[in-house]
Amino acid sequence: MQTKVTTEKAFERKYPESVALVTTRSRTGEPNAMAVGWVAIASSDPWMFVLGIDSAATTYRLIRSTRQFVVAYPNERMAKETRHVGTRHGVPGGDKLTDCGLVMQKGRVVRAPLLADAVANFECELVRIVIPGDCPLVIGKVVAAHVNRNHALRRLYTVAPGYVLKGVRPMASR
Ligand SMILES: Cc1cc2nc3c(=O)[nH]c(=O)nc-3n(C[C@H](O)[C@H](O)[C@H](O)COP(=O)(O)O)c2cc1C
Repeated sequence: MQTKVTTEKAFERKYPESVALVTTRSRTGEPNAMAVGWVAIASSDPWMFVLGIDSAATTYRLIRSTRQFVVAYPNERMAKETRHVGTRHGVPGGDKLTDCGLVMQKGRVVRAPLLADAVANFECELVRIVIPGDCPLVIGKVVAAHVNRNHALRRLYTVAPGYVLKGVRPMASR
């Protein structure tokens, strides 16, 4: 039996939400990363991701300027790093990844870094950005994929507290 509630209230039942990390590299070579919960597969032939990325995020600016990014699934010991890159905006001259100890590895096709300890990394090239509402949807085609040599490593599925709507608003601030 269902009870009618506000859309916001019903979306609270979506959590826990899975999380991925998205890395970028500026034209001047600075790496950046953010956490993204609004991430889904958008196509399997060719493989594509769709990411909801707030227009205020540094990542959004970098994807628009370089048209490249990497989607990485963190391992289960990367919760602290996921929260770190998911709660501060990247600044020119800064390096959020090194600040929190994330180890980078060179990709094969794009300049955005792979995360060496992730369970998997997907190098992506921007296909298009669609803005159907208040959150731009970034669609990227996978141009190379990598998995961790340690197959026993498990994926970090989520971090708490959950992030609701707008992606960038922590539950606590609502
Ligand atoms: C678990 C988690 C999930 C998040 N999901 C999203 C998301 O889907 N979209 C978004 O724009 N921001 C999301 N954020 C917030 C961004 O990661 C955060 O604003 C980050 O500081 C942006 O970094 P940047 O400005 O360096 O790109 C999430 C944060 C966390 C911790």
